[in-house]
Amino acid sequence: MALITTKQLSKSFKGTEAVKGIDLHIKEGVCTALLGPNGAGKSTTLNMLTGLMKPTSGSIAFDERYSGDRRQYIGYLPQYPKFYGWMTGEEYLVYAGQLGSLSKEDAKARAEELLKLVGLIDDRKKRIQGYSGGMKQRLGIAQALVHKPKLVILDEPVSALDPKGRREVLELMDKLKETTSILFSTHVLHDAEEICEEIFIINHGELIVSGDLQTLKKKYQQPTIYIETEEPIEDWSRTIKDSDWIRHMKVNKNELTISVTDIENARNALLTNEELRKLKIVNFEIVKTSLEDLFMEVTKA
Ligand SMILES: Nc1ncnc2c1ncn2[C@@H]1O[C@H](COP(=O)(O)OP(=O)(O)O)[C@@H](O)[C@H]1O
Ligand SMILES: [Mg+2]
Repeated sequence: MALITTKQLSKSFKGTEAVKGIDLHIKEGVCTALLGPNGAGKSTTLNMLTGLMKPTSGSIAFDERYSGDRRQYIGYLPQYPKFYGWMTGEEYLVYAGQLGSLSKEDAKARAEELLKLVGLIDDRKKRIQGYSGGMKQRLGIAQALVHKPKLVILDEPVSALDPKGRREVLELMDKLKETTSILFSTHVLHDAEEICEEIFIINHGELIVSGDLQTLKKKYQQPTIYIETEEPIEDWSRTIKDSDWIRHMKVNKNELTISVTDIENARNALLTNEELRKLKIVNFEIVKTSLEDLFMEVTKA
C-alpha cells in the first residue's frame, strides 16, 4: 500500500534543477531511506513531500484514506532543527503541542508520553542548550510526533551525530517504526541498511535505484566478469549475448563487463572461446559487486 506516490516530481531553483522527475512510492508501515550524496536533492524532495516547498512540476498523491491537509498526517524534522536553548525539553514539547492546537493540559500529557518514548524523561527539566547532539535529535523526533502523524519525515537525522548519538537515534527510529511509517534521508548506506526495508538512491536529482533493500542487495551481489582486449570486442560480444549464463552485458570499445548468473559456466565458456582469444585478452577479472559498490559508483564525484 503506497502512502505517497509521486510522479515526475521536479524542482528547479534559478538555474539549478535540484530534482528531476522522480517517481516515488512510499509504503505504509515500513521504514524508507532516501539515500544520496550531498547536493543529490534529498532535502528538496522531502520539503516538497511535507508541503513546505511547491514542486516546479509533477505530482504528489496521498493514499485516498488520507485526504485533506497533508500536514495532519506528516511529522517533520528538518536537517538543521532550531531549538530555543533556554527552554527545557519538556517546555519545548508542550509549546510544540500547543502550536499543534492541543490544549495546555493535553499538550502536557502528550509531552510526557513523548519524553518517555524518546528516552528523555529524566532530562525533561534540563535546558536544551545542555543536551547532547543525540538528545537534541531525539527531542526533534518527539516534536515531529506531537500530533501522532502516520508518517514521520526525518532529514538526515543521524548525519551530524557522534557514534553514541547516532546509535541512540537509530535505536529510537527502530522502535518508532513499529507504530509509525518513517521516511528519512541519509548519505550513508549503512544507516539505511540498519533499519530500512525500502530504499531510494538519488543522485544529481535523479532516481538511480529503488525498491526493497533485501532484493536490491541480492540483485547487486551478482558476480561480474570484466574483460579487456587489445582488439575491439563489440562485434564478438554479440556472438555470446544469448548465452544462458549472462544476466546482462555492457560493452565499450575494448572493454566488456558481463554480469553473470553462474560464474563457473561463464569462466569456462569465455576462457575456451577461440574467437575471444584472437582479440588478445589483456585483462580478465572476476569481481563481486554489492549494493555498496553501486552506491560508491553513484556517489563518487
Ligand atoms: N533554496 C535553494 N536555492 C537554490 N538552490 C538550491 C536551494 N536548495 C537547494 N538548492 C540546490 O539544489 C541541489 C539539491 O540540494 P538539496 O536538496 O539540499 O540536496 P541534499 O539534501 O541531497 O544535500 C543542490 O545543488 C543545492 O545547491
Ligand atoms: Mg539535505
